[in-house]
Amino acid sequence: MRRFIVIGRKATASEEFLLDDLPSTSGRLDILLRCARAALLTSHGLRRDAVVYLVLLGGPRAPRVLRIRGDAAKFIRPDERSLATLAKKTLASRADEAASGFVDVKPGIAIARGGVEEVLADAAGATLFLLDESGEDLRAALPLAVDDLADVAFFLGDHHGLDAATRARIDAAGARPVSIGPVLVHADDVVAIVSNELDRRGVR
Ligand SMILES: C[S@@+](CC[C@H](N)C(=O)[O-])C[C@H]1O[C@@H](n2cnc3c(N)ncnc32)[C@H](O)[C@@H]1O
Repeated sequence: MRRFIVIGRKATASEEFLLDDLPSTSGRLDILLRCARAALLTSHGLRRDAVVYLVLLGGPRAPRVLRIRGDAAKFIRPDERSLATLAKKTLASRADEAASGFVDVKPGIAIARGGVEEVLADAAGATLFLLDESGEDLRAALPLAVDDLADVAFFLGDHHGLDAATRARIDAAGARPVSIGPVLVHADDVVAIVSNELDRRGVR
């Protein structure tokens, strides 16, 4: 399983954003949705081994985490508007208010109250990496044995990067800082490059 966790420092945890003006009204949820597309979709299908966590730290209902599992989700479309519509419907749910942990809103789509802590609990046992341009080269860090890559989780930031407390928590969880190269690139490009490195190692 390959997990991608995107930390949206201002990305809204509420459904109150405009589909016609996503970047200005959602705390840049559009960045996180592009990461979800890059993690979950190939040219003609859904990656069944991918799980995406969008950590939403902005807006009135924060913090919440939206989780999409490629092995169970249906009808995930690549265009940003469709993904935003899916997020809007999921965030409108109140299913997480009376529950702890992830609650399915529809097949493969779940919501949880909380932030990184909920993700770490859900991904217990995974080998953790933190995407950081000053980290160790990912190509050197990834173990060669496919079995060692059976459950991997990659944390990354949005355009604001990670706040100090979140960074400290991910470090404390034992995540290994890794770089995909010397140039700081957009978050969805990072997800695409990491996915490609996993594909090249035969991770399915
Ligand atoms: C657009 S960048 C963040 C820019 C932000 N201003 C900063 O300085 O952190 C979004 C995220 O992508 C990841 N990232 C970008 N370039 C990277 C690289 N070359 N290697 C590893 N991670 C990278 C980091 O996790 C970063 O938080």
